Amino acid sequence: MISAGILTVSDKGAVGERQDKSGEAIHDLLAGSDIRTANYAVIPDDKELIIDRLVKWADEGDLDLLFTTGGTGLAPRDVTPEATLCVVDRIVPGLAEAMRAESLKKTPMAMLSRAVVGTRGKCLIINLPGSPRAVRECLQVILPALSHAVETLKGEASECGTAEP
Ligand code: MTE
Repeated sequence: MISAGILTVSDKGAVGERQDKSGEAIHDLLAGSDIRTANYAVIPDDKELIIDRLVKWADEGDLDLLFTTGGTGLAPRDVTPEATLCVVDRIVPGLAEAMRAESLKKTPMAMLSRAVVGTRGKCLIINLPGSPRAVRECLQVILPALSHAVETLKGEASECGTAEP
């Protein structure tokens, strides 16, 4: 089993003014895969708080994947990509590119997400946009590659050429 954390970044969600349908959407999509949700939290759009949480969860060593949702756009308080870039060792552009490319087939607004993906130690951190619809559209694109991503990140993959989605 692969372990995942879900970190919803939302000012309104953090004070209980908005139900976290996006975090729920991630959880529901993962339920149909070999990935189980181990950690979950809702925090405000605050760069230092996001950094602290990403570092804590990634460095505890129990999570293979860490999904964030929200804060990837152009609003003044959208800082999730900046926080993520502060904590990752390596950027994985292909996953973010694939999400945007496929999303663009559905909405031109997809180009407004600045979502990034990167690794911190053996944890793969993935930014998803904030709406439940965007979460579903983006996560469906990358889900088939995530098991192999985790295997390779842990140094457990034997033959990359034979990996099946
Ligand atoms: N991607 C997909 N697949 N579907 C969407 O509906 N919404 C976009 C974009 N990415 C969207 C999407 C919109 S409207 C915005 S503003 C940006 O994601 C950033 O959203 P965020 O600030 O909530 O992260």
